[in-house]
This record gives sequence, C-alpha cells and structure tokens, in this order.
Amino acid sequence: MKPVTIATLKGMKHAGEKIACLTAYDYSFAALLERAGLDLVMVGDSLGMTMQGHDSTLPVSVAEMIYHTACVARGVKRALLVGDMPFMSYQKNPEQALANAGRLMRRGGAQVVKLEGGAPMAGTVRFLVERGVPVCGHLGLTPQSVHQLGGYRVQGREAADAERIRSDARALEAAGASLLVLEAVPAALAKTITQELSIPTIGIGAGPDCDGQILVLQDMLGIYPRPSPKFSKNFMEGAASIEDAVKNYVAAVKGRAFPGPEHSYT
Ligand code: KIV
Repeated sequence: MKPVTIATLKGMKHAGEKIACLTAYDYSFAALLERAGLDLVMVGDSLGMTMQGHDSTLPVSVAEMIYHTACVARGVKRALLVGDMPFMSYQKNPEQALANAGRLMRRGGAQVVKLEGGAPMAGTVRFLVERGVPVCGHLGLTPQSVHQLGGYRVQGREAADAERIRSDARALEAAGASLLVLEAVPAALAKTITQELSIPTIGIGAGPDCDGQILVLQDMLGIYPRPSPKFSKNFMEGAASIEDAVKNYVAAVKGRAFPGPEHSYT
C-alpha cells in the first residue's frame, strides 16, 4: 500500500484520474475512509459546525484542530492528510502562520495545511512553502469570511469576481501551493482554473471538471441536523452501510457520476 503524496495527486491530475476526498474528524471514521479507498482526507475546520454545533467555523482554535487532526492521523495510513488552519491562526503575519502550521504538522500529523484566501495570502504561502510546509489554498466561498461575504453563497458569478478568483488561483500556484480547493463557484469558472493550473484542484460545489471532489462527511451521510448545501448529495440513500455509502461516493467521483448538474452552479 503506497501512501498518497502530493506527487501522486499531481500524477493523477495529469493522467485524468479523479481524486476522491472527504473530511473526517475522528479515528473511527478516518479508518473507515481509509478502507473505502479515499485519496485525501481533510480535517476541516468545518468541525466547528459538524462536531461542535457552532453556526460557523470561526470559533475553532488551533488546539482543537490539532486534537482532531491527531485523532484522524491514527486512522489514516494511505490517504494524504490535510489539516485546516483555523480563523486568525495565520492571517496576522507569515511568522504566526509558520508557528501554527508547524504545530498542526508536528503535533497533529497533518501532511499539508490548508488556508483560505487569494493574492493577499500569497506571501504567507510562499513563506510556508520555502520553509518546508506544503500548502493547500482555498478560494471561492471561503467560510472563514462568511460575515464579509454576507452568507454562504456562490462566488464568482460576476465577471470581475470570476477574474479575481482566476488571478488569485494563479497567485497561489506561483507562491508554491500544492493543491487548491474551489468552493461554491460556477462550474465553468472551476473548469477554466483547473485547465490553467498545473496543481490539482479539489472542488466542492465547483462542478464536475475539477481534478478532485470533496464533501463534508456529515453532509454526504445525511446526518448533519441542519440543511445541507445544494452541492452535497446523501450517499446513504440506497446504501447498506456507512462503508458502502463512502465506497459509492468514491466510485461516483472516480466514474465522473458525481457531481451532476443538480450539484453544480452556473
Ligand atoms: O472545512 C472544511 O471541511 C473544508 C472542506 C469542505 C473543503 O474546508
């Protein structure tokens, strides 16, 4: 069993093989995702909502991210493990970002850290990458900016916004980011960005043409007690077990059956 690395994911992009990703926050689910054949497992700060019941990801601390990432790391053997940098753990300056990314990697076991934001974060991304920290960017609907964005809504529908997201994506790649999450953007915009970048894009509500797909685990199992976003799908419907649901998700992503037009934005 060869571990998935950033190079593996880049190879998959260039070979046209879709990358299957999900979030996880604990050991048992991490081990289940591993058995189901996920390529990438992300400990998202969405845990503020799914695990802690907050209305947003903003209250999540670095200590909480380390705790959950370490739990997941014990269950993940093959998949690449990405850990989220929570709100205000990296925005102050590159040194703050490096200190917290170091904690997430050393104490949490993250192999890649994810942070939100475009060109204004490029200097921080470069600072981390030059010091040995692999970075995943996150553009489009960036949940840590929910109050600035005025809610959880699709981004990049206006031409000027779409152009800014495209140039942000190029800036992150130029700064050395290894992966890029695109959340809740029109499918055509995500397709353009995916074609323009040499690094893999991971879509969530970004249409079928991203190099990979990710969903929040509780959304795709249909167990989050609040409404799930339009771009999610309940894979428990028709599945005999949780493991089957996750295997069906992996097969649907790899076979390009998910996401469909009903899970995408125009
Ligand atoms: O916090 C999170 O879980 C995420 C992914 C869904 C991309 O950012």
